[in-house]
Amino acid sequence: MPAMTPDVPMIAAAQLKKRFGSNEVLRGVSLSVAHGEVVALIGPSGSGKSTFLRCLNQLETIDAGEIRIAGELLVGTDAQGQCRYAPEAEARRLCRKSGMVFQHFNLFPHLTVLENLIEAPMVVAGLARAEALQRAERLLAKVGLSAKRDSYPARLSGGQKQRVAIARALAMEPEIMLFDEPTSALDPELTGEVLRTMRELADERMTMLVVTHEMGFAREVAHTVAFMDEGELVVQRAAREFFADPGHERAQAFLDHML
Ligand SMILES: Nc1ncnc2c1ncn2[C@@H]1O[C@H](COP(=O)(O)OP(=O)(O)OP(=O)(O)O)[C@@H](O)[C@H]1O
Ligand SMILES: [Mg+2]
Repeated sequence: MPAMTPDVPMIAAAQLKKRFGSNEVLRGVSLSVAHGEVVALIGPSGSGKSTFLRCLNQLETIDAGEIRIAGELLVGTDAQGQCRYAPEAEARRLCRKSGMVFQHFNLFPHLTVLENLIEAPMVVAGLARAEALQRAERLLAKVGLSAKRDSYPARLSGGQKQRVAIARALAMEPEIMLFDEPTSALDPELTGEVLRTMRELADERMTMLVVTHEMGFAREVAHTVAFMDEGELVVQRAAREFFADPGHERAQAFLDHML
């Protein structure tokens, strides 16, 4: 295993290509995320943001390109242009380095909050119940939801559900957190509590790749903004620079529309 050095990106995606039938959704997307970096991935609907994110933990497979997680090869393309994934156990291990949070929470509805948090650590990571419970309680306290430990998801607000979903992802102790529009299903008054939780994670130097329409979050919390359009990564630059000057016509038009 390569040594963890700050120079090795936590995510290094190079020239990713993906098509659905005749629809070329990713046209050679390259993006890297450094250790402790927060990258906001923005762009119009249908530009390929979710697909890109899903390729990083093998919820989708790519057609060509290379993905390295903390320096290790998840998938590469050989000289013949054949895409080759790491052997299954290895790929699973690499994908477990990232936790994902979805727009629609995806909590298990038949499990309580606490049971949602201990499920994967026990079943996938093989933790003893007592240890999984201890970890779950700590994470619920962290997201401010200890009082809801025995509630079922249906009894929670959207913001609370999303904070549980974040805690559940953290329960697997990921090195990277991937967020796909975590607040866009929420009423505006519930968005703040989720963004606050994400900001705390960023303050703890969690490596984060966040697909978002929240320009305030991108501006204030992200170190870097990456803008996608029509399956291409058009620009990636420091957030401060990006908002001062996105440096590309399409990115400027998008910003004008969003702000
Ligand atoms: N499983 C799928 N099968 C077929 N086409 C798909 C699939 N998933 C996504 N697509 C198509 O890929 C393109 C990119 O979709 P994607 O969801 O990645 O965009 P997005 O940037 O996340 O958009 P949004 O901001 O609306 O979430 C779209 O044209 C979409 O219809
Ligand atoms: Mg999407």
